[in-house]
Amino acid sequence: MSKMHDNYPTPVSIVQELVRRWVLPDMMVWEPCAGDGRFADTMRSMGCAVISSDISMGKDFFDYRRTLAPTLVTNPPFKHIRPFIDHAFSIGVEKMALVCPERLWACKKGREQFERHRPGRFANMDWREDYLQKGGSPDRALAVAMWEQPHSQRCSYEVWSKSS
Ligand SMILES: C[S@@+](CC[C@H](N)C(=O)[O-])C[C@H]1O[C@@H](n2cnc3c(N)ncnc32)[C@H](O)[C@@H]1O
Repeated sequence: MSKMHDNYPTPVSIVQELVRRWVLPDMMVWEPCAGDGRFADTMRSMGCAVISSDISMGKDFFDYRRTLAPTLVTNPPFKHIRPFIDHAFSIGVEKMALVCPERLWACKKGREQFERHRPGRFANMDWREDYLQKGGSPDRALAVAMWEQPHSQRCSYEVWSKSS
């Protein structure tokens, strides 16, 4: 099952953990795949200046030639996630946090992109959300990749639990 433009809303638990653990209150952030606005609203509520766009508003991320803010935070369409990462850094994004598949780096193309744009932090979750809404026990999990710069020498590995 695949929805139009990969529109799978991020579970609120992951939105909250990413924002709490990575976003700073004074950040200028672009959310270019905003969907229903849950990331943008959460970041605004902590004082960030956030620009939202989405292909459903006629704003295709791949058409931008300059970033709209130095920092980008989103859950992008996974079927385009590799070109998404390359494009973000090619248009001037400095810092980025992406919700991503847990096995993003675990293949040849993943390893090559990891050499090119190694994140400074990568986090798995100690819980699984049924984000594809297939019912039953989820067979895929979400992770978060975080870049303080387009390529880091080292990547620190984390496992997050839900804050109460
Ligand atoms: C996985 S959903 C995430 C939505 C939202 N960021 C969230 O966290 O709930 C992916 C979103 O990317 C949007 N999208 C897909 N392709 C896009 C593109 N080329 N440019 C901009 N937005 C795109 C979809 O419309 C959808 O809202």
